[in-house]
Amino acid sequence: MIAKTTIDSVFEAARVEEVIGDFVHLKKSGSNFKGLSPFSDERTPSFMVSPVKQIWKDFSSGKGGNVVAFLMEHEHFTYPEAIKYLAKKYGIEIEETQQSSEQKAQANERESLYLVSEFAKKYFHATLLKSEEGKAIGLSYFKERGFTQETIETFELGYSPDSWDAFTSHALKKGYKLEYLEKTGLTIVKEEKQFDRFKGRVLFPILSMSGRTLGFGGRILRNDKKAAKYLNSPESDIYHKSKVLYGIYHAKQSIAKEDRCYLVEGYTDVIQFYQRGIKNVVSSSGTALTPEQIRLINRLTQNITVLFDGDAAGLRASLRGVDLILEQGMNVKICTFPEGEDPDSFARSNSLEELTLFLEENSRDFINFKASLLASEAKDDPIKKADTIRDMVVSIAKIPDVIKREVYIKECSRIMDISEAVLFDTLAQLLQKEKRDAAKKQKKDYKPMGVVPADKKPVKKVDVQYELERKIIEILLLYGNSEEEFEDLILEADEAGNITFKPETVTARVFEKIYLDLQDDEIEFANEDFKSLYFEIINRLNQEQQLQVDAFVNELQPEKASAITDILMEEEKYQLHQWETKEIYVKQKQHSISQMVSETILNLRRELLAQKISELSEAMKEGASENTQDHLQDIVDYISLKKVLSEKLRRVL
Ligand code: CTP
Ligand code: MN
Repeated sequence: MIAKTTIDSVFEAARVEEVIGDFVHLKKSGSNFKGLSPFSDERTPSFMVSPVKQIWKDFSSGKGGNVVAFLMEHEHFTYPEAIKYLAKKYGIEIEETQQSSEQKAQANERESLYLVSEFAKKYFHATLLKSEEGKAIGLSYFKERGFTQETIETFELGYSPDSWDAFTSHALKKGYKLEYLEKTGLTIVKEEKQFDRFKGRVLFPILSMSGRTLGFGGRILRNDKKAAKYLNSPESDIYHKSKVLYGIYHAKQSIAKEDRCYLVEGYTDVIQFYQRGIKNVVSSSGTALTPEQIRLINRLTQNITVLFDGDAAGLRASLRGVDLILEQGMNVKICTFPEGEDPDSFARSNSLEELTLFLEENSRDFINFKASLLASEAKDDPIKKADTIRDMVVSIAKIPDVIKREVYIKECSRIMDISEAVLFDTLAQLLQKEKRDAAKKQKKDYKPMGVVPADKKPVKKVDVQYELERKIIEILLLYGNSEEEFEDLILEADEAGNITFKPETVTARVFEKIYLDLQDDEIEFANEDFKSLYFEIINRLNQEQQLQVDAFVNELQPEKASAITDILMEEEKYQLHQWETKEIYVKQKQHSISQMVSETILNLRRELLAQKISELSEAMKEGASENTQDHLQDIVDYISLKKVLSEKLRRVL
């Protein structure tokens, strides 16, 4: 277990905006930061980070919490892992208290897969650098390719010995289970025998954005027509090839800083660029680009430059990836290398200045790029020209931004020497068709009400009690300690038996007032999270006479912290939507705190009464005959009480 003192210093040092900034491209927005949600596919930012409150909130997925909750949510860390990650980032030494065997056993399956991958990475790396075979075969190969020692260490490149099970038997000896070796694909199990998947290959470890080892790419060294040049880890619980980008861990900071990402095809392209000094580079590792991969980049920058090898073959096919990027609202440039060169060879044989200049001069907008493709392919072929123009408009139609679309249409018209009107017409047709297709799809997805399972109620009723309990927590968090004057209405009956209210002013702290009022009525919260939060807040205020919200949030369990974040980020939601500018006015904060307190408590009491009344009527309907008389009396009493409450409420408002 990590010592409490370590956890405390981690929370003291960690800044939520810095930690999240490593994963999400954040822009200042008032006193907050905002960015694209890393949890959903969106084009307008709904992800907010508050440096003041040290919390974050993702309005598109509803997730939120403190810095640890973010790491748990985004990186799938456990709590201790998140603390360790932060400790490392902020250079804090971790003090551990003894771990019980039970806790050790709790490390779950995914964790085991991560552990075995991490172990393999270290083993392969050490084998490359230290063993005779590794040095003679693997290391010399990398050196021959021009990788420096520093580069080899940065990317933790490795070598797997050229024997059937050198790695597997070593791992088993170290206590790693065969089950996990097999699930990560490091070991191939056939009947009784076990083989190393990467036997005799040099290895490129594939890391997640946060630096966890997910899998490997292994390059063969022999010239063997039958064996694949590259062999990759198979899909597993931790490795999904459509969701990773090789190099993202080393590139992320630079991508955000340079506000651009270079996308190349291979492992060696990434490494050679990095070594040359262009660090904002990643690779999709030979597979067609996927929306998930684009989203990874989208969190860091909106600008992407796709680099293509010199050979024209397959260029057209690769252009499909470009449309996918446009669809995500990103700006795409394309750069091709001279015949026979790829980014790897070009970066190797040119200086940083030359490489930078080349990229600057040869990066073209996708529209220009497609046009030049045509120029080389089909100068005098009108049919091909028409095809290309249509092709360009298809790409333009993918761009979500209307203004950008129009700019590109104009550009296309100029380059291809065709009237804007025709292009706009074609665009309109395409958009219409897309709309129709989308509508069709929706129709197909639509299920008649009768088929909806009973537990998935189609209509979501507003849960009044939930909202009121939540409101009480909000009041406690924001104003719990403030001293206010409350106007209580004391019920009095005059001689004629008429009921009147006599106002009486009392001074009290907000939390005391709430606590006493709720206790008077024996009101209990229905929502378990709110209930325990309520007692925690009351206790804290009682003992310390104050509540430091950010410290409080950090001490809570992530789920509870998330509930609080929701409440605290309410204001930011309004800021996010800029509702004022759209002339939608959000209900202003109540005139006074005391009024808000009274109103909320009265409303809650009234709601609970209403619930009681309907419960009793239900019971009566079901004919619990012996109690009918009592029930009736109860109902009458409750109804008159409810009237009194309503009257009080009317006066408060
Ligand atoms: N690739 C793969 N499996 C293969 C071939 C290629 O996964 N059988 C992926 C690798 O990620 C590789 C990328 O596709 O890096 C590009 O392939 P290629 O251009 O053939 O390899 P290079 O990266 O140029 O590798 P090298 O320079 O070592 O030949
Ligand atoms: Mn190559």
